[in-house]
Amino acid sequence: MTTTFDYSPYAVAYRERAEYVPGVVRALLRTAAVRPGDLVCDMGAGSAHLTAPLLEHGLRVDAVEPTPAMRAVGERRTAGAPGVTWYEGTGEASGRPAGHYRLVTFGSSFDRTDRPAALRETARILAPGGHFACLWNHRDLDDPLQARVEELIHERVPGYGYGVRRTDQRPVIEESGLFAPPVALSGRQVFRLPAAAWVRAWASHATLGEQAGPRFAEVCDAIGDLVRRETGEWIDVPYTTRAWTARRLDPRGTDADARR
Ligand SMILES: C[S@@+](CC[C@H](N)C(=O)[O-])C[C@H]1O[C@@H](n2cnc3c(N)ncnc32)[C@H](O)[C@@H]1O
Repeated sequence: MTTTFDYSPYAVAYRERAEYVPGVVRALLRTAAVRPGDLVCDMGAGSAHLTAPLLEHGLRVDAVEPTPAMRAVGERRTAGAPGVTWYEGTGEASGRPAGHYRLVTFGSSFDRTDRPAALRETARILAPGGHFACLWNHRDLDDPLQARVEELIHERVPGYGYGVRRTDQRPVIEESGLFAPPVALSGRQVFRLPAAAWVRAWASHATLGEQAGPRFAEVCDAIGDLVRRETGEWIDVPYTTRAWTARRLDPRGTDADARR
């Protein structure tokens, strides 16, 4: 089953989100043993938040994205970069050729898929010994200002939750039977960001948008008011990038192709 969620309303503001912690991206690429020039498929590539650092590491990237408005932002951001090609598709039905990629990544998009189906599709398009990876940026909710933002959201959106985007991804990967035991990676970094841009980026928060419904704009405005009261021109926001990566098992069962 393909579960495409329409990100169009969130596309423009998404560009202003904090980047993934660079050390985690580096560790992920090391664990997946990819080298400059290797071909990666970035699923749900959106505004190229992960595609861009993959390209900076010298990888070639096939970026797959179902939402035209998100794809347009991503294509603009990576225009002129060598080695990137954009495709329409989903994590469950990417349209990419079998056995082709050293690494398949899901930057904040794995939770948008039917995850077992996306894992099957990933295993199909991975080259022998290739890796699956998924990652998210989690705001540190223990930070005093972020705790107040969180409180404000819960007051206005009763029952607000993060779904699977803040949960351990190991069980679903292990249950697929398609991958070696996953490796979990994480790293925390405080990003100093223009406060106005950080507030604007809330308009890209689909998890909140879905649950707030018609109150979404009002909640974003209230976050803006709070941040303006509490900070100056800049805001320090601690994020933890959490990633999981796992090597595709050899479908013949010998697992002889684990190393290349
Ligand atoms: C939160 S954004 C992440 C964008 C970008 N990869 C990043 O790292 O910031 C989630 C993206 O997943 C896309 N998406 C929605 N349903 C999807 C599906 N079934 N398969 C792959 N991507 C999907 C959305 O259109 C959106 O661009």
